[in-house]
Amino acid sequence: MAEILIVDDDIMLAEMLTGYLQRAGHRAASAATLATGLDMAAGGHYEVIFLDVQMPDGNGLAALPRFAEVVSGPEIIIMTGSGDPDGAEKAIQSGAWSYLEKPHVLRDLLLPLTRALQYREERKKISHIPVALKRDAIIGRSPALLQCLDQLATAAASEASVLLTGETGTGKELFARAIHDNSNRADRAFVVVDCASLPETLIESTLFGHIKGAFTHADRTTSGLIKTAHGGTLFLDEVGELPERVQKTFLRVLQEHRFRPVGATREEHSDFRLVAATNRDLDWLASRGLFRSDLLYRLRSLTLHLPPLRERKEDIRPLARHFLNRLCDRARIDSKGIADELFESLLIHDWPGNVRELQQTMEQVFANGIHLPTVFAYHLPDHIRVRMAVAALKEPSPVIAFRGPTMQNGPLPTWKDFRTEQEQFYLRYLHGITCGDIKEMCRLSGLSRARLYQLLSLHRIGPARHLPD
Ligand SMILES: Nc1ncnc2c1ncn2[C@@H]1O[C@H](COP(=O)(O)OP(=O)(O)OP(=O)(O)O)[C@@H](O)[C@H]1O
Ligand SMILES: [Mg+2]
Repeated sequence: MAEILIVDDDIMLAEMLTGYLQRAGHRAASAATLATGLDMAAGGHYEVIFLDVQMPDGNGLAALPRFAEVVSGPEIIIMTGSGDPDGAEKAIQSGAWSYLEKPHVLRDLLLPLTRALQYREERKKISHIPVALKRDAIIGRSPALLQCLDQLATAAASEASVLLTGETGTGKELFARAIHDNSNRADRAFVVVDCASLPETLIESTLFGHIKGAFTHADRTTSGLIKTAHGGTLFLDEVGELPERVQKTFLRVLQEHRFRPVGATREEHSDFRLVAATNRDLDWLASRGLFRSDLLYRLRSLTLHLPPLRERKEDIRPLARHFLNRLCDRARIDSKGIADELFESLLIHDWPGNVRELQQTMEQVFANGIHLPTVFAYHLPDHIRVRMAVAALKEPSPVIAFRGPTMQNGPLPTWKDFRTEQEQFYLRYLHGITCGDIKEMCRLSGLSRARLYQLLSLHRIGPARHLPD
């Protein structure tokens, strides 16, 4: 059974077709003008629309694109009584599924209708297969991120509202853009509404627009962000901050895709696809009456949770590499090497600010090591170096282990082995607390620079040989 709309001013024919389609098991309705037809199409879920060309309020072919872009994305079959020899060509060029001549509509209708419905079924199946994603901007290959990319592909192929959740800096906006860029709406607008920074007094006019004179300083009619998003994607960032008053209005906009600009008497229509993001627990807010649960239900037809960076540490290395390469490209300099030890330090950190914090850290590393071909842990910001030093202190000391039960119960090591072990422990410890700062290592140990380099090299510790003087 399919939902079918007949847009024809010939009431008798429309009734006949409606009856015929209903007897064939479909749900059919009719409209006698283009305006009524468009309203019904926008508010319904029609899969096929039979559209007449000569209508009292305009030409059906000219109105075809507006019928085609309603949310249900119907297939359009053009009907004409004019016998225009170019009619079929024009209809198909305008994006119609098929073309029927009026005298034979009843006789010929079944075949194109069946084909159109079969085509829609096939298309539905295809849209569930993840297409080759455009994901150049999204770096990482951890299993957790790959799972998010799978969900991204599903979201991009669908028209359902998506709610992106995750801590600050995990990439919610990046994913929202990727959903848009991979969707059928990619060539239309991606409109960002930052709900946290909308001024309380201007919120409605920013979202819905206003007409001239609606309030003081409204000296011209302005369309709002919802209208701008027509045909594209509306991204409600920090949606948990939307004031209660606006939540209620917005719920209606989501349900009907209609809204009334401030001061206007007529409602307007916008066919936008909604993606929202939050780093707050909306279920918790809803359970305390701070967020409307009916709106929450609408927002999250699909949800996509971005895990924090500390839960997908495999992504740190490629992300750090990517950010550093990008900085080098922008500065038009050769790309830099990254010492292994720097990667190790990045892995120790918890990244409460997630990918954004890593990006800022690499900016600092880049600035600190701008004149060197390789960057080292030494170039990290102080707060991360302090963590490294603390972590180094917590590492089980080989000396303590050596002096412990093994020393007492096991065989006595040779003097040479014992000294090597002691030396290695000392140098590792020294390297950890100074973050590889050669001057500092010399000062604390009393070793000469030449001897220190020699020992570090002997024990294969750190990148000391590459460090600056
Ligand atoms: N997987 C990734 N690959 C490359 N860059 C990323 C990735 N994830 C995040 N980023 C970058 O990190 C920064 C923060 O990402 P984004 O703004 O999307 O985070 P957010 O979740 O919206 O944060 P907030 O909640 O603070 O608004 C951006 O510059 C983004 O490009
Ligand atoms: Mg954001």
